[in-house]
Amino acid sequence: MSEVAQKDWNPLSWKEKPVKQLPKYPNQDKLEENYKTLKSLPPLVTSWEIEVLKDKLSNVAAGNSFLLQGGDCAESFDATTAPKIVNMVKVLLQTSFILIHEMGVPVLRVGRMAGQYAKPRSSDFEMVDGEEIHNYRGDLINGFKSESGTRIPDPDRLIEGYHKAGLTLNFLRALADEGFADLHHPEQWELDFMQNNEYYKEYEDMVSSITKAVRFVESIAPDTFSTLQKVDFYTSHEALNLYYDSAQTRPVPRKKGHFNLSAHMVWLGNRTRDLNGAHVEYFKGINNPVGIKIGPPFEIDETLKLIETLNPTHEAGKIVLITRFGKDNIERQLPELIRAVRKEGFPVVWSSDPMHGNTFSTNGGVKTRNFDDILSEVRSAFDIHRAEGSYLGGVHLELTGDNVTECVGGAKGLNEKELDRNYETFCDPRLNYEQSLEMAFLVAREWKKSYL
Ligand code: PEP
Ligand code: CO
Repeated sequence: MSEVAQKDWNPLSWKEKPVKQLPKYPNQDKLEENYKTLKSLPPLVTSWEIEVLKDKLSNVAAGNSFLLQGGDCAESFDATTAPKIVNMVKVLLQTSFILIHEMGVPVLRVGRMAGQYAKPRSSDFEMVDGEEIHNYRGDLINGFKSESGTRIPDPDRLIEGYHKAGLTLNFLRALADEGFADLHHPEQWELDFMQNNEYYKEYEDMVSSITKAVRFVESIAPDTFSTLQKVDFYTSHEALNLYYDSAQTRPVPRKKGHFNLSAHMVWLGNRTRDLNGAHVEYFKGINNPVGIKIGPPFEIDETLKLIETLNPTHEAGKIVLITRFGKDNIERQLPELIRAVRKEGFPVVWSSDPMHGNTFSTNGGVKTRNFDDILSEVRSAFDIHRAEGSYLGGVHLELTGDNVTECVGGAKGLNEKELDRNYETFCDPRLNYEQSLEMAFLVAREWKKSYL
């Protein structure tokens, strides 16, 4: 952090700036009381884990590894259950194995997990049965049920969010310690859904090779295997509810500056990245690696200023630029951004979020995304980076380990009529388990075309 930022900055200095996407809590006394409580509770992650992640991200920026960031659009408190967490960890592990196997480089797993509870919305209110009520802003702020009482911003949710994040993280760490358990059994991998797909043989060979490799290591060197058992897993969320994030932002003994100890990495959303706004002020003062979502509307100059503001010392591994232009805009907007960032010499990690620019509603009013549109943005992102001599080092996906029906397409050819079969998301449509494995496989193919 620059000297200037250190002098003027504190975890609450954002309050002096215009704040977007954060509703007024009617009960201010309760808000203050809960803020103090949250401030006194133990951290969820540690500063050394954060520093290790930043170091590993600098390796991604240098072109030597790959970042897989993924998870729910919005986690819900009610989904803090063993099956949901197990399925999420499983899909993130399996997709990462596909990437590692195909690319032959280390893959960093960063979940949109254990704190992804707050959402930006395009309007503050909605009409329900002739009554104007607050829009749902994520479980960290209000309840999903469309009743005026449930939708009032409730400060108790800050504390509940902390507890739910802690429970999720505790189980996540235990599962990550088990590492490869079970994944060497081919039956833990879905194959059938790819059967009629042009890549079926390639996919089947890959799964067989992954499971054989794990069994091989297990049989010839059990000790090596036990050290392999612990897999790295990091957490991230959009730092949108600045009360939640700033209450967990602290100095750490013998280290300079402040760390957001609620997650390893946090990101700045596309709607809250105004240079003079509260969110940017908050992000200026934390040592965590930070993601910046960039999509329409945006300006190159402003983006460069933003990167400079958040990383004045040009530390490698600090900034992950997550582009989310949409399949029809990327060709026009990404090349210029890559050139401008390179000209400034900023050592950023480039990541592609092919989800958020490709959302649409069906005629029946269901919010969805098409697998082919998502893939199209991924392909364009790789093509453009390759053509510019730049390294696309990551993808940012909304996915779930569950068998939901939220995005259309994929090898099984899910159609719009089938969406209501198991449409569970509280916010944006996610790739389901099979679509996620297929996407990882296709991402790896694109990466290989560009960088092998
Ligand atoms: C999100 O990641 O869920 C999100 C709201 O993204 P963006 O800020 O890019 O719209
Ligand atoms: Co989303």
